[in-house]
Parts: sequence; C-alpha cells; structure tokens
Amino acid sequence: MSFKAIRIDKDEQGYRAGLADFAEADLMEGDVTVAVSHSTINYKDGLAITGKSPVVRRFPMIPGIDFAGVVESSSHADWKAGDKVVLNGWGVGETHLGGLAQKARVKGDWLVRLPDAFSPAQAMAIGTAGYTAMLAVMALEAHGANPQHGPALVTGAAGGVGSVATALLAARGWTVIASTGRAAEADYLKSLGAAEIIDRAELSSPGRPLGTERWAVCVDSVGSHTLANALAQTKYGGAVAACGLAQGMDLPASVAPFILRGVSLLGIDSVMAPQARRREAWRRLARDLDVGKLAAMTQTIPLAGAMQAGRDILEGKVRGRVVVEIG
Ligand SMILES: NC(=O)c1ccc[n+]([C@@H]2O[C@H](COP(=O)([O-])OP(=O)(O)OC[C@H]3O[C@@H](n4cnc5c(N)ncnc54)[C@H](OP(=O)(O)O)[C@@H]3O)[C@@H](O)[C@H]2O)c1
Repeated sequence: MSFKAIRIDKDEQGYRAGLADFAEADLMEGDVTVAVSHSTINYKDGLAITGKSPVVRRFPMIPGIDFAGVVESSSHADWKAGDKVVLNGWGVGETHLGGLAQKARVKGDWLVRLPDAFSPAQAMAIGTAGYTAMLAVMALEAHGANPQHGPALVTGAAGGVGSVATALLAARGWTVIASTGRAAEADYLKSLGAAEIIDRAELSSPGRPLGTERWAVCVDSVGSHTLANALAQTKYGGAVAACGLAQGMDLPASVAPFILRGVSLLGIDSVMAPQARRREAWRRLARDLDVGKLAAMTQTIPLAGAMQAGRDILEGKVRGRVVVEIG
C-alpha cells in the first residue's frame, strides 16, 4: 500500500523535494495512524523543502511540521478510529515523517483533539504559525501585560505568525502597531485589526541601545536587529515575545532595556511545548480568533503546490497563511 506525499531526498544527486508515492510500510514508529486531510506551509517547511537550512535530520523525509486529520487506527488509550486530531511540532517534518502526505504515523501523546470550533482546514489555516502566535500572546498575558499599558508591536506582520498575532491582539483590545516590509498590505493588516502600520525598515538596521518608549509589548517573528530595536523601544516593565528568525538568528542587542527599563524577553517554542499549554492555546484560539479574519488571511493549495509555496514563503511573498489540501 502506498500514499501520496512530498518526499525530500539528499544523496549524491543533491537535495530535492517532490511529489511521490510513499510506501505505508516505510512510515516510522508510532501508536496512531492518521489519514491527513490538511497540512500547511510554515516558514520551517520552506526551509525543509528548499534545504536552505538543515532542519531535516533524516532522509528520506516527508516535510510538514503540522497536520489535521482523522485517526485511522490507534493502540493509544486516548485515541480511537474516527477521532479528529491536530498535530504541531514534536520534530514531525524534521526528524519524524511529517504532515505533507495522505498519511502520518505518530505518537498519540503528540496529538491534540481538533477543537469543535474549527474544521480541519481552519485548524491548518491557523497551523503552527497561528498556534505559536497564541503561545506568544499567552506568554505576554502571563507576564501581566494588558492593553492599558500601551500599544502592541507585531513584526513580520503580514506573515503567518504576524497575521494571527495581529488578529488575536486586536481582538483582546490591544492597539496593534504592525511592522511590515509590504506597504501594499496595509489595508489587509488594518482589516485584521492593526491600528497603525510602520515600515519594517524603521527596525531592521542597527539601532541605539535604548530608544523612545513606543510599545508595551511585542510579538516578534523576525529576530536580529528588528528584535534588538523592538526591545530598545519597549516601555518600562514591558515584554517582548521572541518567536522567529525571518531576518536572522542573531540578536545584536545590549542589556540596556533589561537593566534600565526592566524589559523582559520571553522565549516562545512551539515544537516541544508541553501538552497542557498546547491544549490551552487551542482552547484560546477557538475562543478568541475570528474565523472571518482567518479566512481573509488564508489561501489554499493542492499538495503538488507545496514546493512553490515553500520557495515563496522564504522570499517573503506569502501573505498570511497557506493551507495545503491533501485530497
Ligand atoms: N518559535 C516557534 O516555535 C516558531 C513557530 C512558528 C514559526 N516560527 C518562526 O517564526 C517566523 C515566522 O514564521 P511564519 O510561518 O509566520 O513565516 P512567514 O509567513 O514567512 O512570516 C515571516 C514574515 O517576516 C517578515 N520578513 C521576512 N523576511 C524579513 C527580513 N529579512 N527582515 C525583516 N522582516 C522579514 C515578512 O513580513 P512582512 O512582509 O510583513 O515584513 C514575512 O512575511 C519564522 O522565522 C519561523 O521559523 C517559530
């Protein structure tokens, strides 16, 4: 028995990804087999598909760090055939065969029940990018931040994490300042709830250790100078949730915001986040995310379109989220 999948190989012929037939017998160990109906293209999937960064640790690999689908068979106590599930992270699509395929076999401990509020397609419109945006908002709230403290900056705002973060923060009453390199997306970002749009060039070059205090919190998916400048312009006692590296993995910052303004830098990891936090994030997404806004930020492609979408996301050409309808 075989199924359709995106397959990545790396050998003497080089690094390549393409649509292929994958033998079910070659699936990796796991106590739950899922018929995948939808996956997505996240930034990390773009890195895996193009080979631009060494995120894939085993070959052949099926990329796809997340998926939604229906349990086909299970020997795990929590899951039975017919259950609707979502998976984010846990090394799936990196070290364990991933979601850009008609079938996945994974540990039942990695799965989250699909919230009633969402169809599988909507869950993947959120995907790992949106779930990470929710983790970032939860971290800022746990820090004690609230909209009375000042505006919220979102960097990489027209991307996946940024679009969902903008919608979530606006829905919670924050005045959102959206930083983007795409001026043409200003109306889109305002439709998600952004109050102000700034040019990402304001933040992407080397800056001063401390600047004028502009925002109380930030969700940053960009890293590098952008994160350093976001920290330097955070108000006294504020917090920045760092979740991405679209500009770079470096952090050319000083300690000034931490020791002179009591600013906190909160690290956000979606891959190994404990189950309780994941369930809470999905519960909060079901409560707080306007599915109308979700539709506005989403495009849908077939499985065969994954390679092009992977290249596009690394070039910053993708607006919002890409759902892959597996079919
Ligand atoms: N921590 C985690 O667990 C976790 C989970 C998911 C994602 N991430 C990371 O979060 C980041 C965003 O992921 P995503 O799926 O939302 O990707 P995405 O859709 O490509 O969004 C990234 C956005 O960053 C901006 N950007 C791109 N290149 C830039 C550059 N050179 N300088 C400044 N801004 C740039 C662009 O926004 P504008 O066009 O609006 O400027 C782009 O749309 C990635 O680095 C990803 O690896 C981390």
